[in-house]
Amino acid sequence: MKDKDTKDIEISLLLEAIYQRYGYDFRQYSQAHIRRRIMNRMTMTGLEYISQMQAMVLNDETFASDLLQDLSITVTEMFRDPEFYKSLRENVIPILKTYPFIKIWHAGCATGEEAYSMAILLQEEGLYDRTTIYATDFNQMALDKAKEGIFSNKMIKDYTVNYQLSGGKESFSSYYTASYDNVIMNKSLKKNIVWANHNLVTDSVFAEVHLILCRNVLIYFDQNLQNKVQTLFFNSLINGGVLCLGSKESLHFTDLYQEYIELDKKQRIFKKKY
Ligand SMILES: C[S@@+](CC[C@H](N)C(=O)[O-])C[C@H]1O[C@@H](n2cnc3c(N)ncnc32)[C@H](O)[C@@H]1O
Repeated sequence: MKDKDTKDIEISLLLEAIYQRYGYDFRQYSQAHIRRRIMNRMTMTGLEYISQMQAMVLNDETFASDLLQDLSITVTEMFRDPEFYKSLRENVIPILKTYPFIKIWHAGCATGEEAYSMAILLQEEGLYDRTTIYATDFNQMALDKAKEGIFSNKMIKDYTVNYQLSGGKESFSSYYTASYDNVIMNKSLKKNIVWANHNLVTDSVFAEVHLILCRNVLIYFDQNLQNKVQTLFFNSLINGGVLCLGSKESLHFTDLYQEYIELDKKQRIFKKKY
């Protein structure tokens, strides 16, 4: 038997063990992503075989928790891809302005930077008071950090540039208070954000929304799983609602492509047909 086949079997058994023991289902994630993260953890722990991790995952909750963190990449930024936010202001805000109240779902919000960026944008557009932002992730540690709204000072220079490039209308520093090495986001930004643990693979629709942002999440899923999650989004969006994906993600190869109009092809913004 080839070495590659053995590793594939071990990975598949490990993912099965994680699913059966903890309910997290990575079985339909991109194989390349899963393999990279598992091999990385194996090197860090000095293990010889992937199958040794199976016993550890089943019996050692700390190890399992570390591995779950490895499998969930939480890299994010405020106003990530500023051109996307510019397009959001130009193409999506006018649509949102037509509704008396607005519900927005950030699926896979990581540590919250994306949701805070949205709150800032909505404040500037005069829409925040009539909006509820549902920011969800399956990574509880990331969600806890998001709720705090405390970010490292080191990132603020980059975030300020992103904000300005995105068409920000104020001084970015008016949205936080600096405290030692960190900044604390203004309370007024948090007031309409509902943080919730939600797993896109195993949980169902929880709200009917006007706008969904799921950026840089589907990239880790295989095609079948992307189709399944796209159905979840389709069922959560009102007719005429808007779906935003990440720069490397697309609706093109999914079953639901025909059900949307492209509002901005480059920025991956789609409107559900009436
Ligand atoms: C790279 S971050 C993207 C954060 C943000 N959307 C952005 O674009 O900056 C991916 C996030 O997706 C979350 N994620 C991965 N699989 C998920 C699942 N099955 N259900 C919910 N969230 C998931 C991860 O925990 C992680 O926080």
